[in-house]
Amino acid sequence: MTRNDTPSSEEQIELLKQQLTQAQRMAALGELVGTTTHEFNNILMTILNYAKLGLRHKDEPTRDKALSKILSAAQRAEKITNSVLGLARNRKEEFAPTELAKLVEESLVLLEREMQKYRVAVRCEFAEVPPVRAIGNQIQQVLLNLMTNARQAMPNGGELILRISHDAAAGMVDMTVRDSGSGIPQDKLLKIFDRFYSTKDGPDASGKGGTGVGLSTCKDIVDAHQGRLRVESSVGRGTAFTVRLPVFKQTAAPTSAAPIPSLGVPVTAAKAVK
Ligand SMILES: Nc1ncnc2c1ncn2[C@@H]1O[C@H](COP(=O)(O)OP(=O)(O)O)[C@@H](O)[C@H]1O
Ligand SMILES: [Mg+2]
Repeated sequence: MTRNDTPSSEEQIELLKQQLTQAQRMAALGELVGTTTHEFNNILMTILNYAKLGLRHKDEPTRDKALSKILSAAQRAEKITNSVLGLARNRKEEFAPTELAKLVEESLVLLEREMQKYRVAVRCEFAEVPPVRAIGNQIQQVLLNLMTNARQAMPNGGELILRISHDAAAGMVDMTVRDSGSGIPQDKLLKIFDRFYSTKDGPDASGKGGTGVGLSTCKDIVDAHQGRLRVESSVGRGTAFTVRLPVFKQTAAPTSAAPIPSLGVPVTAAKAVK
């Protein structure tokens, strides 16, 4: 088929969508680099200080204490690295049996320190649930977005509750991210999923938010998983976002995903074409 006329408007829209996807992926990657660099710097400080302490004091108890502090700092660094590698894994972008509790824990490792800094207490309430059918790194991206929004809604601290429960009758698993923050007025609830809708002035001190692409990306991802993203909110009391995903069925044939922004290394588009 030979065609050398100008692209149709559908083709142009498709191209723009691909470019937007790429931009979202780069923005997510940028936020992740910001978070991890910050965390690694904290860890490095701990290691340096305790190494100096251990060298300065020759007595065994002090050296033991210094070494155990260095060890736990290094173990935390290892957890963060694993979490970031987790985000880059599953690059085939295929649906696979996915344990949500593990994704929540990996996401928390990345945001733990930030939550402490903003005096946000984190509580996990995980029921026994079966694996869901998901692309792990995409759902982790949803979680990071929802948790960051929750933290930003609680500038003076509060509580973040992460709950996982099983609706066996529906064959679905629910994952709720609840905050005790500002809440969202009723008339704004429909707007928050619009691309570029934001009430924030711009990125905050940690370089996150203000673009208005977070929730629209979450919705695109959850829709492509044949799931649902719901919100409940009460002004002054807080907000809860619930991601509902289908339980993984053993018989389901593996399906390739629609092109959705993810934190995966940006070679997925080329790799997806076998
Ligand atoms: N947990 C929350 N509590 C209060 N408002 C929220 C929450 N999550 C999202 N919002 C509102 O929805 C808007 C859109 O969110 P999002 O798409 O993530 O964009 P951004 O975070 O860049 O502003 C936010 O600007 C905020 O007004
Ligand atoms: Mg956001």
